[in-house]
Amino acid sequence: MEIITKIADLQRKIVAVKANGGKVGLVPTMGALHNGHLQLVRRCVAENDCCVVSIFVNPTQFNDKNDLLHYPRTLEADCELLRSVGCTIAFVPSVEEMYPEEDTRVFELGPVAEVMEGKYRPGHFNGVAQIVSKLFYAVTPDRAYFGEKDFQQIAVIRSMVKLINSPVEIVDCPIVREEDGLALSSRNRRLTPEQRKNALNISATLFKSRIFAQNHTVAETLAFVVDTINAVDGLEVEYYEIVDGRTLLPVESWDQTDYVVGCVTVYCGEVRLIDNVIYHR
Ligand code: PAJ
Repeated sequence: MEIITKIADLQRKIVAVKANGGKVGLVPTMGALHNGHLQLVRRCVAENDCCVVSIFVNPTQFNDKNDLLHYPRTLEADCELLRSVGCTIAFVPSVEEMYPEEDTRVFELGPVAEVMEGKYRPGHFNGVAQIVSKLFYAVTPDRAYFGEKDFQQIAVIRSMVKLINSPVEIVDCPIVREEDGLALSSRNRRLTPEQRKNALNISATLFKSRIFAQNHTVAETLAFVVDTINAVDGLEVEYYEIVDGRTLLPVESWDQTDYVVGCVTVYCGEVRLIDNVIYHR
């Protein structure tokens, strides 16, 4: 595996791969890699001739400076993991390399970027669109891989791709969980053992809500999830929404659409965790 920090060096490699008819896959990450990321990388390695994994903690998507400051950085361990799964290139640019000038672009991403995370993290998705579009220009991948853990992010990326007429194929991959159900996240490293135990109630409640939903309304299921999680000491729901999996707009009844997903954000102490559950698709 090569570790590349400059776009020009990266482009030389990519041109060579494509000259031989090779396909290029990209997995964008912010590092602190875990098995959730590695699932994306494994699939990218299997489906392409050249797998590029970017590791870049993107400052423009952090609306909370403290969160940016505390974001875990574990580059050496990350590269070790990437080597072990057959990644071709780790692309690890500096902030100056990705943002030689301030990025003032404003993406009109539509309602998918305004609801849920869009409401609670203003500017977040614009920052995601800025960096992912820059990565698409720098890497020119045939395919890019994203995890359903960040369910809304995938919808936003699809909207961005249409907006800039990008030919990149977006591939979504299911959530990877710990054996006990907790969705893998780089932020889990910041949980104390006690908080880690509390956090388990998030996925457990989402799973229970799928059974609850079989004989309750959407409104009752919303209340069930919020009340059950909030009843745990040390957990506080920021929002829970049951939405159409494509438009991300709230649904009022289960049969309103064929794709229904529940998306939750919970504060576990200072740590903000997200998770989601698919009711049907
Ligand atoms: P990051 O949080 O590092 O996640 C990188 C990718 O890994 C995302 O597509 C995310 O959905 C996926 N991922 C994380 N945890 C996962 C899990 N438990 N199961 C499945 N997939 C998982 O998302 C970002 O970085 C950034 O916003 C980025 C797209 C890189 C732009 O900066």
